[in-house]
Amino acid sequence: MPRLIYILNGPNLNLLGKRQPEIYGTDTLADIEARCRRLLPENADLKMLQSNHEGQIIDWIHEAREEASGIVINPAAFTHSSVAILDALNTFEGPVIEVHISQVHKREAFRHHSYVSLRADGVIAGLGIEGYEAALRRVLSLTDRAL
Ligand code: DQA
Repeated sequence: MPRLIYILNGPNLNLLGKRQPEIYGTDTLADIEARCRRLLPENADLKMLQSNHEGQIIDWIHEAREEASGIVINPAAFTHSSVAILDALNTFEGPVIEVHISQVHKREAFRHHSYVSLRADGVIAGLGIEGYEAALRRVLSLTDRAL
């Protein structure tokens, strides 16, 4: 069975490419998925998921408990508000890397706090969409010895 990595994306990230391009760039989630797929070794696969609904993201994290070796997550605005996503991630045993496209610490103060960082094994902010590739590389290396 190939290692499966979940890449979870929170609210408004479906608009990536059109949404505030001066902050988030012009690449879409499909572009990010294509770049990430190029990094996959033969024995690994990924599932790219996005939802605007907190409960859906929690359900995917529960599904990941059974199916995934690791999680890359950009919780978007839920980063700063969701104890429920933190609690769900705390039930997941594999590596979790948190990604933010923008440099959240250079932005409004409410973006400086992340509930998800209390669980994440690594946090990436401000690398643009390259952050997803860095996060995926890290999850792949952390799950490699589990083969
Ligand atoms: C974001 C940063 C969050 O503060 C914001 O709410 C987002 C995207 C990022 O990728 O930079 O929607 O997670």
